[in-house]
Amino acid sequence: MAYGAKMKYHLECVKCGSIYESSYDSQICGKCDGILEVVYDEKLPKIRSISKFWDLKPILPDSKYKEFVVGSTPVYKIGSGEVYAKLEMRNPTNSFKDRGSVIEIAKASEYGFKEVVCASTGNMAYSITYYAKLYGIKARIFISQNANADKIKDIKSVGDAEITRVNGDFTKAQAMALSYSKHHTSFLTGDYCYRKEGQKTIMHEIYHQLGQTEAVALPVGNATLLSATYKAMKELKQTSGMERMPAIIAVQASACDPIVKSFHTGKGIRYQKPKTKADAIAVGLPTFGAQGIEAIKSTSGFAVSVTEKEMASEQERFYKDYGIMAELASVAVFAGIAKLKPKGKIAAIITGSNI
Ligand code: F0G
Repeated sequence: MAYGAKMKYHLECVKCGSIYESSYDSQICGKCDGILEVVYDEKLPKIRSISKFWDLKPILPDSKYKEFVVGSTPVYKIGSGEVYAKLEMRNPTNSFKDRGSVIEIAKASEYGFKEVVCASTGNMAYSITYYAKLYGIKARIFISQNANADKIKDIKSVGDAEITRVNGDFTKAQAMALSYSKHHTSFLTGDYCYRKEGQKTIMHEIYHQLGQTEAVALPVGNATLLSATYKAMKELKQTSGMERMPAIIAVQASACDPIVKSFHTGKGIRYQKPKTKADAIAVGLPTFGAQGIEAIKSTSGFAVSVTEKEMASEQERFYKDYGIMAELASVAVFAGIAKLKPKGKIAAIITGSNI
């Protein structure tokens, strides 16, 4: 397949197995509301440079996203060990969310939608609103009650989104966005399959920037980044000769850690009322939870939770030592690494800085 062509793919429901053509204009299974997965029908191209990662995505080559300055974020060695921080706040709306939002909005535009709807704890809504505006698409946002007030200001500053502050948490906001999309002509965006295709480019870049690493540490809310990172590793094995998958270290706040609990008890993921100040990862029932657990296990990784105090002190330390402000959800990975003390070269995904 030549670079620049649209990759051929279909969608598969992870719950009931239903198959949809790429012309299907939703990210949710029409039969069971299950989440869909993008499955490529042709061999993925071998990727040699960061700019080529954009071609590994299921969107039209002439789509506007090519004009955007998204991705290709730097990695810096942090401290005296072998921890490398990938600074995702160097994306236009200061978080990793832009990588997924550009795909979701491009798809909404391709299918002819004039409106998108999105549930969020803040960052995703900020990012979606920004790109929706660039495409001339209206954004309707359902935001969780405990969302950071500054994030709501950010959303208002980049577009004219219709914002509903939900009387409840992210899980409730997500149900409201889904319901809204069913009753209106509005493309459902958020933590779904097309976002995953965007988020996976972080791991592709890490491999090309650092080569083989022993572990990749990342924060977990809805687990899209977690399952996307694993998907990228599978692709890297096929396309770029990655010898072994780095162990994924999944980090959650102890005041909201349904994945860590499930990983350690072996029981299914149960809803946990979020009580953490790390508002970005205050997700009580992760959408990609089951895939997330599979990702950790398949890479011989680990799941760890960190306290509010540990996150606050890592935030202060990172700012003091490097002059970089990152949000609690992001510095959680430093706290997780400090606890587990993994050996060898570690990539730490620092997801955002909207505080
Ligand atoms: N870090 C930041 C800064 C985030 O905003 C999020 C998620 C995560 C980590 C966790 O990523 O959900 O893929 O496991 N934020 C979502 C939002 C929930 O609405 O902005 P995940």
